[in-house]
Amino acid sequence: MRNSVQKTRLLCSVFSLILCTHVSFFFKFAISGDTITPTQFISDGQTLISSNNNFELGFFSANNSQNRYLGIWYKKISTGTVVWVANRDHPITNKNGTLKISEGNLVLSNQTQSISWVSNSSNSVQTNQNLIAQLLDSGNFVLKFSNNDDPNEYLWQSFDFPTDTLLPGMKLGWNLKTGLNRVLCSWKSFDDPSQGDFKYGIDNQGYPQLVMWNRNQYHYRSGSWNGLRFTGTPQLNENPVFEYTFVYKPNEAYYYTTWARNNSVVTELVVNNTGTGTVRRLTWNDKNKDWVTYTSLPLDICDTFNLCGAHGSCNMDNSPVCQCLEGFVPKVAVNWNSMDWSNGCERRSRLGCGEGEGFKRYAGVKLPDTRESWVSLTMGSRECEELCLKNCSCSAYASANVVDGTGCLLWFGNLLDVRKLMDKGQDLLWFEKQETFDTHSHWRAGVFDVIALGTSLVHLQDEKAEEKRLQHRNLVKLLGCCIEREERMLVYEYMPNKSLDFFIFDESRSPQLDWQKRKQIIDGIARGILYLHQDSRLRIVHRDLKASNILLDNELNPKISDFGLARSFGGDEIEANTSTIVGTYGYMSPEYTMDGLFSIKSDVFSFGVLVLEIVTGRKNRGFYYQNRLLNLLGHVWRLWNEGNPLELVDASIGNSCNVSELLRCMHVGLLCVQQSAEDRPSMSFVVLMLGSETMNLPPPRHPGYFLELENSNQTDSSSSNQEYQTATDMTMTVSESR
Ligand SMILES: *[C@@H]1O[C@H](CO)[C@@H](O)[C@H](O)[C@H]1NC(C)=O
Ligand SMILES: *[C@@H]1O[C@H](CO)[C@@H](O)[C@H](O)[C@H]1NC(C)=O
Ligand SMILES: *[C@@H]1O[C@H](CO)[C@@H](O)[C@H](O)[C@H]1NC(C)=O
Repeated sequence: MRNSVQKTRLLCSVFSLILCTHVSFFFKFAISGDTITPTQFISDGQTLISSNNNFELGFFSANNSQNRYLGIWYKKISTGTVVWVANRDHPITNKNGTLKISEGNLVLSNQTQSISWVSNSSNSVQTNQNLIAQLLDSGNFVLKFSNNDDPNEYLWQSFDFPTDTLLPGMKLGWNLKTGLNRVLCSWKSFDDPSQGDFKYGIDNQGYPQLVMWNRNQYHYRSGSWNGLRFTGTPQLNENPVFEYTFVYKPNEAYYYTTWARNNSVVTELVVNNTGTGTVRRLTWNDKNKDWVTYTSLPLDICDTFNLCGAHGSCNMDNSPVCQCLEGFVPKVAVNWNSMDWSNGCERRSRLGCGEGEGFKRYAGVKLPDTRESWVSLTMGSRECEELCLKNCSCSAYASANVVDGTGCLLWFGNLLDVRKLMDKGQDLLWFEKQETFDTHSHWRAGVFDVIALGTSLVHLQDEKAEEKRLQHRNLVKLLGCCIEREERMLVYEYMPNKSLDFFIFDESRSPQLDWQKRKQIIDGIARGILYLHQDSRLRIVHRDLKASNILLDNELNPKISDFGLARSFGGDEIEANTSTIVGTYGYMSPEYTMDGLFSIKSDVFSFGVLVLEIVTGRKNRGFYYQNRLLNLLGHVWRLWNEGNPLELVDASIGNSCNVSELLRCMHVGLLCVQQSAEDRPSMSFVVLMLGSETMNLPPPRHPGYFLELENSNQTDSSSSNQEYQTATDMTMTVSESR
């Protein structure tokens, strides 16, 4: 029970009855029934009762307070439930209040005749002649001419000045002609009916919507009208409690509840001081007369205004509940992943005006906040789409009427407070750049290990967002990722020169890379890997270093790409084990291929293979030389030990070669591909060795994969004849059940 009214019944003793009559006689006549005339008044203790016995008007105190208020409450509920208060902000502190008709107004004053409340009637009637004030069966208290029952001609009615309760027949919203705005406002507390923090009414900015404010901020949005209901309250659609509608005319916008479906049922909507609107009912013949709540507003956590931030969408069936709308990614990934969604989402790729290639349809939603919207109730959907396409600031559109699909709602700016509503929701459409798949230039694709993508990519994004540190100049800039069903894509900055394999394994292009350039590329790759292994917050093992993953910018500077398989390590973790071997044959270290062990030393192995490929212009895989079953590593190792290492050097390097530098690179390459992971140098040592002209290097030991595996052709048949291909067919995923 929200509050109980300590009503002082008119139980005058014989003595006081005489006194009452006496007092009345000297001033005005006391009343009974539902009406007062200009010659009557209501004093504290007297009440008006509506003719159907449902409502009562008089003075009351709220719970533990002594203050007196003029109000209306349910007559038949013994504890009383106040539905309207006249002087909520100006209590009378004694029991000497009186209500009377004076100079065309209802006036509430105390003993000293100071005015506590006045009705401010709309008509400038200066006379009391023929006026009456009546408490109607609906609970509406009206001031009118005694011979005129037309509601449009009431001089004043309490229904135009609601307190915290919406009764059937009341309107909520605006009359722009008169400037009247009817808003529910919560009580301050249990004891105090003065205006509290929460208001519920119609906001007229953009297409009108039904909103609950906490002070001046949105707290909850029932949303815009869609022809059947407010977009955010599907639970009120055809409710058993009352019928309602929304009137939207040039001069008016209001929500209107018609009389209850069942006249013997009391229904109301109350906003309380914790910001909850309760739609409830009570039947007269209920024994206990307990209110039964039909629904609460807001209903659940997804009803919290803008919980998921701009371009986010809330779904109670998801965990966590917030997701970005399609085509959008979290603006601050670290916050988003720790369930602080306030920053919302932003477009994955910036969209220039006119660049949108189509609309995404998001079905079954509560339409976004309409404060920045535009509406036409007559326009068709085709016209609506065109209008949105034409206007560069249009971010989305929807039909305004779900009944016949007509009307056009356009949004400008951010899409706020969207939630999934399943079958009771509406369709929202917004611009989206279609994923164009150009394998030769802007886009690169890969088949990624789902686990790796799930963990590593999030970390990489975290790192990028939190510390802006995964932005080394030898790492390609990751713009975003796209996961759609089986398709997984990473989107990088545009690299006009494609990748390293495109040059070094191609006879016509390899002369473009002279020795100086190749040395720069080797140094750049080494620095990029060193960064991943050491300098970024998390140790990152790339796991798929290979020539086609080294992209080249317009100055042929190397940039490591494709973190699809990357795994991050904790600070002191140095090795991990996996049952799913992912990577590319020819570049994978023996311990990884055989035992699933990977560490920063497996990346060092791949780097060594890369160095030897850059120097020789040959692929490690599919390399056959003088009919021997030796791979490239085996050959370099053999020639190195025979004292003829220069025999395999790429002919197109020609005279540009600085022989001692080249031999040092081969030496470092051989140290990196040693069979045993412990023997391989760390990347910091590699960078040191590459940069020094005088340092003595240890002799290399036996490399991994001295012999080509016999069955290798079965697992990778494409490597010998490819020129440039997308990464899709080059990364192998070998699952082993262990
Ligand atoms: C109205 O409500 C009362 C009380 O719940 C019920 O007995 C009666 O059958 C209802 N009448 C209609 C027409 O639904
Ligand atoms: C407000 O209404 C809600 C829903 O009926 C209820 O759970 C909550 O206790 C109410 N708060 C107060 C202070 O009455
Ligand atoms: C786009 O729509 C907004 C809002 O209606 C309007 O102010 C603006 O002029 C329109 N721009 C164009 C280019 O039509």
